[in-house]
Amino acid sequence: MELTESLFFIFTQSFLKLPLLHLALILITFFFSCAQPLCHNDESIALLQFKDSFVIDKFASYESAAHPKTASWAQETNHDCCFWDGVKCDEETGHVIALHLNSSCLHGSINSTSSLFQLSQLQVLDLYDNDFNQSQIPSALADLSKLTYLDLEWSGFSGSIPSSIGKLTMLTYLSLSQNKLNGQIPYAFGNLSRLLYLGLAGCSFSDFFPPIVCKPTSATHLYISENYYLNGQIPSSLQKLTQLNSLDISLNNLSGQIPPWLGNLTQLTSLSLEKNNLQGILPKSFSRLKNLEYLNLVSNHLSGTVDFDMFLGMKNLNRLQLSANKLSVLTTDTNSSTNGTSTMPQFYILGLGSCNLRNFPGFLRYQNNLMFLTLDGNQIHGKVPKWVLNISLKTMAVLQLSGNFLTGFDQPPLAVLPWVRLQIFDISDNMLEGPLPIPPPSTVNYGVRRNKLSGQVSPAFCNLRSIKYIDFGDNKLSGMLPDCLVNLSDSLLVLNLVNNSFGGSIPEICTDGSQLRMIDLSYNKFEGHLPRSLRSCLMLQTLNLGNNQLGDEFPSWLGTLPDLRILMLRYNQLQGNIEKPISNSVFFPKIRVIDLSYNDFTGKLPSEYFQKWNSMKAFDATNSSYMKANSNITARTSADSNASWTQYYPISIKITIKGVDRVFHKIQDVFVVIDFSSNMLEGEIPESIGGLQGIRVLNLSNNILSGSIPSTLGNITVLESFDLSQNGLHGEIPLQLKQLTFLSIFNVSRNNLTGPIPQGNQFATFETSSYDGNLGLCGYPLATKCWNSESPKLPPPASEGKGDSEFPFQFDWITILPGYVGGLVVGIVGGNFVFVKKQLWFLKRQMKRRPRRRRGFRT
Ligand SMILES: *[C@@H]1O[C@H](CO)[C@@H](O)[C@H](O)[C@H]1NC(C)=O
Ligand SMILES: *[C@@H]1O[C@H](CO)[C@@H](O)[C@H](O)[C@H]1NC(C)=O
Ligand SMILES: *[C@@H]1O[C@H](CO)[C@@H](O)[C@H](O)[C@H]1NC(C)=O
Ligand SMILES: *[C@@H]1O[C@H](CO)[C@@H](O)[C@H](O)[C@H]1NC(C)=O
Ligand SMILES: *[C@@H]1O[C@H](CO)[C@@H](O)[C@H](O)[C@H]1NC(C)=O
Ligand SMILES: *[C@@H]1O[C@H](CO)[C@@H](O)[C@H](O)[C@H]1NC(C)=O
Repeated sequence: MELTESLFFIFTQSFLKLPLLHLALILITFFFSCAQPLCHNDESIALLQFKDSFVIDKFASYESAAHPKTASWAQETNHDCCFWDGVKCDEETGHVIALHLNSSCLHGSINSTSSLFQLSQLQVLDLYDNDFNQSQIPSALADLSKLTYLDLEWSGFSGSIPSSIGKLTMLTYLSLSQNKLNGQIPYAFGNLSRLLYLGLAGCSFSDFFPPIVCKPTSATHLYISENYYLNGQIPSSLQKLTQLNSLDISLNNLSGQIPPWLGNLTQLTSLSLEKNNLQGILPKSFSRLKNLEYLNLVSNHLSGTVDFDMFLGMKNLNRLQLSANKLSVLTTDTNSSTNGTSTMPQFYILGLGSCNLRNFPGFLRYQNNLMFLTLDGNQIHGKVPKWVLNISLKTMAVLQLSGNFLTGFDQPPLAVLPWVRLQIFDISDNMLEGPLPIPPPSTVNYGVRRNKLSGQVSPAFCNLRSIKYIDFGDNKLSGMLPDCLVNLSDSLLVLNLVNNSFGGSIPEICTDGSQLRMIDLSYNKFEGHLPRSLRSCLMLQTLNLGNNQLGDEFPSWLGTLPDLRILMLRYNQLQGNIEKPISNSVFFPKIRVIDLSYNDFTGKLPSEYFQKWNSMKAFDATNSSYMKANSNITARTSADSNASWTQYYPISIKITIKGVDRVFHKIQDVFVVIDFSSNMLEGEIPESIGGLQGIRVLNLSNNILSGSIPSTLGNITVLESFDLSQNGLHGEIPLQLKQLTFLSIFNVSRNNLTGPIPQGNQFATFETSSYDGNLGLCGYPLATKCWNSESPKLPPPASEGKGDSEFPFQFDWITILPGYVGGLVVGIVGGNFVFVKKQLWFLKRQMKRRPRRRRGFRT
């Protein structure tokens, strides 16, 4: 699969304790329903005022179980507030002691005047998953001096933490995670000496370790990840937290070495240092962490050798992730059934990507519970041995073997993958030969990109009823595609067959209800017509049929597709007129990249399309995003937890820009391209094209266009690459083109143009070959002086515009060197199984918030 795809991994723990809590509430409710009303009137009023200070907004909470608890609060129906939803009172005093208003759809601002702070007996305050509209955390919280449990996670607070929180010395649980908090952690936090759980994840703190660990040596859970400004070393003050059970400081910006004293925190069961900038070796002292269940070191710069035996003593270790470092993992291949499976940890998550492995490690033989195994980016040679095809047969869900030197499977003649629950199978970037390995029906993602697989696609693929992603690209597959592929269209998102030798006609792939977002059949030998059923692919965003032998007319009927953004038909034998929209509503409403080059189209440029393509008019770079397809996978890891993955597939296409074929692995949706070059289009360039002000690449070269260059083209101010060469254009080059200050390629060679070349701005940067072969152009850079102009301009100083070969936007591109077709990306792979929660975090912030694990515990 693609190198930039990232596999997102979230470990979700569900809360077994929660139902118990509910049960307790129910029991209490039952008990007191025959007793006297308890509620103190002033507290009842305070609660109602609190309720009234917010609106109920279902978007303010995102947990699926969210419901507006306060909505039912009313004195008329039940004047005893102790029975209100989410309220708990002390049995004897009748004071409100707990407010469980998590996921209650509360939306609105809160400040220190809130009546909430009159509930002075409160011990538990849970406001998790509401939206306090970017309020500051009110300093009056300190009035609730009996609080033991305070949860403000995911609640839309912002600003800095008031130091008064340090007065809440009874606190054992404090979570402020996932708010827009910044500044310093108040030193007063040092007073929170009873704290067991502290959550400060997903904020923007830059310096908060020192105060935290002044005193609270009792802390068992520290959850301080996703603070991207948090840098420096892992602070040595953490050593004092000898009771620490769980330490998550992942996704920060920490650097330096992993301190050996971490090995002294022997109570640790869970340790994540994922995605920092840590370097150096994994300290030997880690072998003392016998209680570890979870260790994640993914995506750092760790180096040196790791003796895998150090983990074999950690009997409870079931999730170990070392991928994406520079580690060399040494495994001793003791045929140690004596050593025994009984003492060996049984992993269900094992990440050994880029660990310099030369073989499948022998201990895998004894792994019966693996769900997730990544061995990508190693140096494993030869065939996948038989015994590997026999491990964790009932559990394996994700198997990542890409970027090795595997040649096949020790299971001739047809490799049938034996894992009955397999969802992701990725063996791209190897040296596999022979037929496509047949995946089990459970498969969701199947990637064999860049191997040497040959033969036809077996109809067995039509059984993949959950499949979302197929990537057969860059192999030697041939033959016709089986017609039954249409059976996959309900689930399939991405079908990528680029650069094989498939032939015959393209089968009908789409049906009504088709989910396909991207179809790439380019660089094959498909012939005949475009299948009309493509019209049913209503979700289609990218269609790439370039470099085939299709013979058809312009598929104006695809103009109905509401979301089609990229249409690549280059290098085929398409013919006839491009003409105009079939009707007022059928005009490719979202099109941004259209490449019809190297076909046999005739007739005029489609000015009516140009008028309608509003999608090419805007160029709001601030709101740009990458085009991608993604798929979510959830697998059950045990009775009470799930692991879920989101895999993103960047859409990569090859486009000629600035005269060079480039493969874009990320297409920003501000990227607008029209390439109609190398056809037989005639007539004038319509003025309406100047209305498409978002165009960055415009190539009309090698046609038989006539007339003059419309001055409206000067309005396309973001134009970067503009090629009109090899046409029959005459007249002068309009002065308005000087406004194109992003222009870095301009080519009008081999036309019949006359008159002076505009001077200044980008025009100071173009070579003479941009103007070759015209009748009468004059002025810089040509030697011919214009007869009425002054002396030729001197070669300009540094250009005024944004010259050079850089685009003003950071496109991620890979230049295709001569001789390479799709192969250049080999070798950069390897890191592609990196878990990037960071982007997930951004996603969450941007889109409406979506569910996420809860951490820690409840009191
Ligand atoms: C949230 O705050 C904004 C201004 O910061 C205000 O316009 C809006 O009405 C507030 N929303 C609610 C529900 O209080
Ligand atoms: C606090 O909030 C109340 C009601 O939401 C508002 O009337 C009052 O002006 C606010 N006080 C301050 C100091 O912002
Ligand atoms: C496959 O594994 C099972 C136990 O998991 C074992 O009994 C069996 O012999 C193995 N088969 C092969 C061919 O290795
Ligand atoms: C495809 O679907 C059709 C109709 O649902 C069914 O008759 C056919 O057997 C399916 N083909 C395969 C290979 O599953
Ligand atoms: C325009 O297209 C032609 C082929 O039709 C190609 O040779 C040329 O390099 C392209 N121009 C630019 C600037 O990319
Ligand atoms: C302009 O196009 C011609 C062919 O049409 C090509 O030979 C020449 O190199 C191009 N010049 C530039 C600067 O791109």
